[in-house]
Amino acid sequence: MPRWTSAAASVRFASRARIPATRRQHSALATAAQAQQTRPPPASALALGPTPTQRPDPYTLLTPELNQLRTSLLSLLGSSHPSLSEIAQYYFLHPSKQLRPLLVLLFSRATNSLGRDWDSKASAACTEHKDELDRPLTRPDVLNDWNPSMPDHTASFSSVFDLHPPSRPKASSPPPSSSLLASLPPHTLILPTQLRLAQIVEMIHVASLLHDDVIDKSPLRRGAPSAPAAFGNKLAVLGGDFLLGRASAALSRLGENEVVELIASVIANLVEGEILQMRGAGQEATGVAVGAKSAAAEDRWAVYLKKTYLKTASLMAKGARAAVVLGGCREGEVWKEVAYAYGRNLGIAFQLVDDILDYEASEATLGKPGGADLRLGLATGPALYAYEEYPEMGPLIERKFEGEGDVELALSLVRRSSGVERTRDLARAHADKAREVLGHLPESDARIALEVLTERVVKRTW
Ligand code: FPP
Ligand code: MG
Repeated sequence: MPRWTSAAASVRFASRARIPATRRQHSALATAAQAQQTRPPPASALALGPTPTQRPDPYTLLTPELNQLRTSLLSLLGSSHPSLSEIAQYYFLHPSKQLRPLLVLLFSRATNSLGRDWDSKASAACTEHKDELDRPLTRPDVLNDWNPSMPDHTASFSSVFDLHPPSRPKASSPPPSSSLLASLPPHTLILPTQLRLAQIVEMIHVASLLHDDVIDKSPLRRGAPSAPAAFGNKLAVLGGDFLLGRASAALSRLGENEVVELIASVIANLVEGEILQMRGAGQEATGVAVGAKSAAAEDRWAVYLKKTYLKTASLMAKGARAAVVLGGCREGEVWKEVAYAYGRNLGIAFQLVDDILDYEASEATLGKPGGADLRLGLATGPALYAYEEYPEMGPLIERKFEGEGDVELALSLVRRSSGVERTRDLARAHADKAREVLGHLPESDARIALEVLTERVVKRTW
């Protein structure tokens, strides 16, 4: 019997002790909804339990993990080109919400041990994967060939056409030590693969911000000079590409094809969302011939919400789902669907509130002037609602607020309308849906923290 079996058994024991067997669910989300009475009470009912002050703060619950993630992430971004490392690390050095890593960690904590493959995934993550996570993907001389950080002993320009005999396979490694499993923080039970996934999603997010700040010509991010302002457009784009390269290598190290596929599809989604936004809502974006005003408005809303999913919610939804996959949850079990539905709704709520904040922003509050989206030609939730009350918004949206005084007129129409309020209601409705779906999870501190997050996303108290 392999030596790790007993350690896996101890994790199994610890996790089963935490979550009663009756709470283990293996059906899909749709069928889970019908069997609600056999499940723990919905998350909204939980709110009646602990008072708000007793409920765990999502960030406090995971402060050590989040700090560790941020620190160790910088070491993934080393390059012998100092300026490349500097730009790749630039946004990580400023305080940020780390919302996407937080979601990955909370879903890991809320669902680990529930899936049928938990035991095998936990063993693998703590044994073969744990050591492998930081190792290069292939032979170092192949991986680093012609790379500026190539070690001296590897292939050089002069010997590049030489054949290098493959190195002899290493003797099979000894069975993984049980101390590896024991090294898991017992209070969290977050696997090393899930911690790495949290870093990967943040790297992809930051890569998208580097590109976004070039596209949006943003002079500032979080009150400091943006990367393009500090380093120039070319280096900002290349820095983003470098981050994607490092994230991809780390992703393959997780040893889970389903997760690679999910996260790779997020990168495509981010680009699709940005293109959809650039082309603008309406006829041009959808290829639909639009005549009546109501049809055009409907079409604009459809494109706006699709773009919102692709640009923002996809990373949260698929990141959370990927965390659950790494924890051994299989197709047909409800957990993956819960993670996806939660992340999708939370992400849409988050972006809707972001779009409201753009109207309320000022140099003093957000480090950027209000109405930045209008200046980029974008009609977001508040403007689309204002159009329903003030038809004069139509031509402004049509010409992307490019006419003289268009931005100022649009700002005043939005202020006179109920656009901001209705956008907040829509955000709240998505946040409520996210909270509702948590009712399918067993009770845990992570589940309550996820619930708290749905309120915080709407109130934006951080
Ligand atoms: C911020 O939006 C930007 C995004 C959420 C995604 C941007 C995506 C791309 C530029 C596609 C390229 C993607 C990769 C992975 C290289 P915002 O402009 O509304 O928010 P902001 O006010 O924070 O800039
Ligand atoms: Mg932007």
